[in-house]
Amino acid sequence: MSSESVRPATGPARRTVIAAAGAAGAVVALTACGSDDGDSGSATSTGSVLAKTSDIPEGGGKVFADAGVVVTQPAAGEFKAFSSTCTHQGCTVKDIADDIIHCPCHLSEFSATDGSVKKGPATKPLPAKKITVEGGNITLV
Ligand code: FES
Repeated sequence: MSSESVRPATGPARRTVIAAAGAAGAVVALTACGSDDGDSGSATSTGSVLAKTSDIPEGGGKVFADAGVVVTQPAAGEFKAFSSTCTHQGCTVKDIADDIIHCPCHLSEFSATDGSVKKGPATKPLPAKKITVEGGNITLV
């Protein structure tokens, strides 16, 4: 009377397509070995100690060209950091004295306190960089 019909599972086979996700695309080129410039091992990556506070003269500063940063000490114990790339045509700024960061290429001047332009031809300030000062170490964040 009751007829049970048992159907074989012959429905359309579902295909699972596994797409190769982008995880395989992680190709990392490491060039971490020190090259021939025998400069002192300055840190170029964020999170590493850039300098000691004692390396930065009060009223002056120091350029860390490898890291693209200039660190200044406009007042005792007050440290600031800016991009060392001049906003005029991209030279690396050089001397820091009397609260002024100088660019040697076309003699622009920037404030060592806030990076603002003190003298052209540059028209844009040096962008600030974030640092932390802890235990006498200045670290680029
Ligand atoms: S590149 Fe610095 S003043 Fe021109």
